[in-house]
Order: sequence, then C-alpha cells, then structure tokens
Amino acid sequence: MHVITPATTAPTVSDPNPIVTATTMTAPLISIRTNDDNIEIVDQLLLPHITEFIPINSVEEAHDAIKTMKIRGAPAIASLASLSLAQYLTRALRQVPAPEFLLSGPAIQAHVQPILDYLLTSRPTAVNLGNATKRLAKTLEVSIAAGQDPTTIVQTLIADAKLIADEDVGRNKAMAKWGGDWLVNRVKPSSKNTINVLTVCNTGSLATSGYGTALGLITYLHEIGQLNKAHFTQTTPYHQGSRLTALELKTLQIPSVMICDTMVGSLFQHYDIHAVVVGADRIARNGDTANKIGTYNAAVIAARHKIPVIVVAPITTVDLEIESGAQIPIEQRPAIEACLVRGAVYPPSESGKVEQAQVLITPTGLEGIYNPSFDVTPAELITAIVTEKGVAVKKEGETVFDLSPIV
Ligand code: MRU
Repeated sequence: MHVITPATTAPTVSDPNPIVTATTMTAPLISIRTNDDNIEIVDQLLLPHITEFIPINSVEEAHDAIKTMKIRGAPAIASLASLSLAQYLTRALRQVPAPEFLLSGPAIQAHVQPILDYLLTSRPTAVNLGNATKRLAKTLEVSIAAGQDPTTIVQTLIADAKLIADEDVGRNKAMAKWGGDWLVNRVKPSSKNTINVLTVCNTGSLATSGYGTALGLITYLHEIGQLNKAHFTQTTPYHQGSRLTALELKTLQIPSVMICDTMVGSLFQHYDIHAVVVGADRIARNGDTANKIGTYNAAVIAARHKIPVIVVAPITTVDLEIESGAQIPIEQRPAIEACLVRGAVYPPSESGKVEQAQVLITPTGLEGIYNPSFDVTPAELITAIVTEKGVAVKKEGETVFDLSPIV
C-alpha cells in the first residue's frame, strides 16, 4: 500500500450551482411500494433528480419495467416479478364471474406457469428472479398435491409471492451484521482510524426491498461507528453509482467519495482502502461471482494491493446448479445505452425546474459497441462471501469456495 494522503483527507467537491431536486425523498429510499393490490415503483431512470412513482398494473408492465431498468438490482427485480403475480392473482380472485383458470389446481398451474416463464425472460443474469419463479412454481405444485381447493391454492401462492418481497429486508440486515462484524474483526480499526471501503454499482434500498446487500454492510459499519468513508464508482455506462448509490449515501448521511470507474487503481495507490464490498447477481457453486460490469476490474486491482474483496448477497443469489462462472449467462445491454449519458440539464433553468436529458457521447452510427451488463469475478479473487447464514472464506490453499455452510 502506497499511502500518500490519509483517507480522512479525501477531497470533497462542493457544487457552486447545485441541481434542485423536484421531490426530495426522505430516508430510507424505497424501490417498490404496495397497498392491497396496488403496486408502485420509483422510476430509477429518472433518479436522482426526479422522484416519480409509476403504477404497475400487469405482469407485462412489471416485465417492461425490469427490462428497461426502471427497476433494477437482483433482489428488487425478483420482488417486483413476484408482486406482479400476486397482484394478477388477487385481481383474478375478485373477478365476477371467476376466470376459468380458477376452476381447478391443474387449470391454475397451466395458466400460471407461462406467466412465471414470461417474467423470467425480463433479464437473464440475476438468478434471484429464477429462484423466485422456481419457488412459486414449487409452492403451486405442493398446494395442488396437498389437495387444496382452487381459492386456497391461489391464496397460498399470493402469500408466498408477497413473502419473497418481504423477507428481503430482514436477511439484508443479517448479512450486514455478519459481514460488517467480520470486516471489523479483520481490520481492527482504532478509535482514530475507521474503515474505508470501495463499492460498485447500487446495492442499497433501491436494489432490494430495503437496507441493501453491500450497501447494507456499509450502512451497518456507519451505524456502529466503524466507517470512515464509502467510496463508490460511477459505474458506467448506466451510472448506478453516481445516480443511485450517491443518492442513497447522501440520504443516509453516510460520508462518501465518488470516483470514476477508471480511478480504482489510483484510489488504491493513494488511499488506505480496507475492503472492496460488492453485491452479486449470480454466484456459482465454486464462488465465481457475476456482478455489475467493472467489479472484476476492481477485484483484479484489489488483489494487486492485497485488499480483501467481499461479496454480500442473499442465498437466492447463489446458483448451486452451475459449477463455475463460465456458465453464468451475461446480459448484453442495447449498444445505445453505452453511447448515452442520462441526467438533468445543467446548469438548471432559473425557475429551478429539473429538465431530464439524454446526451449522446459518441458519433452517430458508431458500430462495434461492446456492452455487457455484468462481468464475472473468479472465486480466486474473492476473499469472503456473505449470506444471511454467515461468512464463507476459502480453505487455506484453495482457490474456490465451499458454499454449503452458508446456503
Ligand atoms: O444492472 P443492474 O443495475 O440490475 O445491476 C445490479 C447489480 O449488479 C448489483 O450489484 C446486484 O444486483 C446486487 S444488488 C443488491
């Protein structure tokens, strides 16, 4: 570690002409809100400058919101998909006359399975969505096998779909404590020097049902007085870092420093960073981890600087069916998304009204654009994987994980 300046003196930039936000969200931020059979999501494409909740009234609208990234983050998309099924079934139960598929268990299954399959096609990499749809299919199968009447079968399914969204927050808090305490014990911060972390993408309340995964761990460190600063990459090209993580950390009043994605090496050379803490979209059986593009870069440079890399993700992100990261499907986003920067017009007009804009940062008609949404960090570069059941580290001399104790 080549420390030039102590991390506590990391520069902060105060904006001489700050953008005025249309609506100010109060902590904690939320991605989904529900009331009976009504679902609303915050349109994350408009954040951080405009806070607008949009209604979701069908599984098609949920599918579209996930595909177009109005909602994103592995646990949040699984929650919305499940809730949209719950909404569909709740409304079906209230329909008079009852729709035909409610006549028998097999009819329900024949009707619901294609809906689950359809929801699964919205985004391919995050396995939480696949785990949610598989779990709901299983719940349905078990209810039918138990001889439940059609209404009870549907009610059981609705309850389970809602549970998928609800149980997220509790396990995030459990992971934060497991991982946070583990890190504190490893770093042993003094009363003068607390922990500096780097994170990638957005893994907080906006990416989950609340509290967050990696950002949950960071929040926990802050809550127990052990965090100095949370550094985060802008996370190009979608800017989940500069748009969403920045907003979450600001809202939670957690001291933070934003860096451009290209500055990870420089940060590690000049500041004392104790850990890279990231979320995950899919973890293979051996611990290889798909997460937001740029995570692998950060892990490679972290290895050079002997900085531990900690992955924080619920068990639903672990895919025991695949042996290694080579089998993880990596989503390629539309090329245009890598050619645009979205945000608010700056400086704002005198009225202070926020004007949303997309700016093309390439020549038009550019061909040959590589735009994978995720990369895979090999287990070898990961120091610890934290789930709600605990912290897994590799055995001495091993390059892969045995995840069985924590899944
Ligand atoms: O493309 P996104 O924004 O859905 O990607 C999100 C991430 O990669 C997160 O790091 C991951 O889902 C973990 S979130 C709790």
